[in-house]
Amino acid sequence: MAEKIHIFDTTLRDGEQSPGCSMRLAEKIKMAHQLDRLGVDILEAGFPIASQGDFEAVKAIAAEIRRPIVAALARANQLDIDRAWEALADAARPRIHTFLATSDIHLQYKLHKTRAEILQMIGWAVGHAKSKCNDVEFSPEDAGRTDRTYLVECCHAAVEAGATVLNLPDTVGYCLANEYEQMFRDIKTRVPGMDKVVLSTHSHNDLGLAVATTLGGVRGGARQVECTINGIGERAGNAALEEVVMAIYVRQDVLPVYTDLHFEEIYPSSCLLTELTGVAVQRNKAIVGRNAFAHEAGIHQDGVLKKAITYEIITPQTVGMPSNSIVLGKHSGRHALAKRYADLGYQLSKPELDRAYAQFTQLADRKKNIYDEDLLGIVHEGLLALAEIYSLKSLQSITATQGPSSATVEIANNGQMLCGSASGDGPCEAVFLAIERAIGMAGEITDFAVHSASAGADAAAEVQVRARFAGREFTGRWVSPNTVEAAARAYLQAANKALYERKLMEAARPS
Ligand code: KIV
Ligand code: ZN
Repeated sequence: MAEKIHIFDTTLRDGEQSPGCSMRLAEKIKMAHQLDRLGVDILEAGFPIASQGDFEAVKAIAAEIRRPIVAALARANQLDIDRAWEALADAARPRIHTFLATSDIHLQYKLHKTRAEILQMIGWAVGHAKSKCNDVEFSPEDAGRTDRTYLVECCHAAVEAGATVLNLPDTVGYCLANEYEQMFRDIKTRVPGMDKVVLSTHSHNDLGLAVATTLGGVRGGARQVECTINGIGERAGNAALEEVVMAIYVRQDVLPVYTDLHFEEIYPSSCLLTELTGVAVQRNKAIVGRNAFAHEAGIHQDGVLKKAITYEIITPQTVGMPSNSIVLGKHSGRHALAKRYADLGYQLSKPELDRAYAQFTQLADRKKNIYDEDLLGIVHEGLLALAEIYSLKSLQSITATQGPSSATVEIANNGQMLCGSASGDGPCEAVFLAIERAIGMAGEITDFAVHSASAGADAAAEVQVRARFAGREFTGRWVSPNTVEAAARAYLQAANKALYERKLMEAARPS
């Protein structure tokens, strides 16, 4: 009888804490709703003691997301655990996740504690968490490099103190899959009382093995896996949710387990995360990369046309990836657009559809073929757009092979028209400087990426910009057949986010 694997998503905690992936409160809530639609069983919403922002995010998600368990992370001390519990106050199904490192390397160099002291701390912390919350997860950090006999003692202490879930992290992505599998077998057989406890995997990808070790853990008896959308996370990332889940689905012959995820929400989840963080997945990324289902070689194309299974072990539709067929053009109406969005998994409200339709008609005027990727670009902009403080009204860009490029912009702000002109080393630099002159605010570009958003000579460019304003990074993304315009709008979007946040903070400040 196949057993269920509980999916513990840590995109909003381990994923979000990695450089370049930070999200604002509204973005975290949007992502949490998408993870709920995807069907994750446990959603780790953050690390409440880490910052006021993290606390607020966990609190808001705990209040809004009712079906999955909402977990909050805490180190093994009273302050952290109490703060996590405070953040979870409104949760329908709360879980405190407490952790403490157990490897000799961490004990000696980081914690300066003896093994006996750590054992005592585990018992106390799990007991304290249990006095507040019935569902307590304990993680012996760096379990993958912890002496096995000592790890058994640590796990035993946690189980005796009331842990309901034991997570064995390969914190530094050091283990091979068979070693990780064996660790689960050992803990399952050597720790008393394991029949009442769920074992969990948590793998990092430093050697590119996170998914392999996670599956090893499942073979060794884990029934919860911790993972992130697109594999984002500390350093090289965490195990990618979409890869683990699809491996379990495709290889049922050797993995007699299942998940309860709605697979068709995988691709929309991946797209939304890219949109929110500005961190794109590489083209050849398994399951959600643009090339994941593209067949280039003639022999492969021939095979797929005859029978897809020759070269496709999963169909793109299974994970909710739209096909590349041309769908809409200049003469398509609002109804057709709404229907196509529904097919792509987006039920747009009237204002969202109005906004998407306005952008669609503008794009269709300039571009003959509108692909699903174009529509996804529009809908993400439309759904996530903040009230635009500054909006680009016109742009003129002049570039040549010799000499500098120049740009002039007109930007609307509160009924006023602001103008800016500048020259720069290329058309994008010129337009960024022109925008800065117009709005009187300068940012530092920390990342700039251009991808083609669809196929064909008139393909739209998808530009992602990351910029630092007053010490904080913000991202912008725009899709347009005109690359310079997409860059300008993406940069302005990042500036609008910075300004929006500044206004919020000013409003929150006591007068
Ligand atoms: O990688 C790790 O060890 C962690 C723990 C906090 C679970 O993220
Ligand atoms: Zn981790």
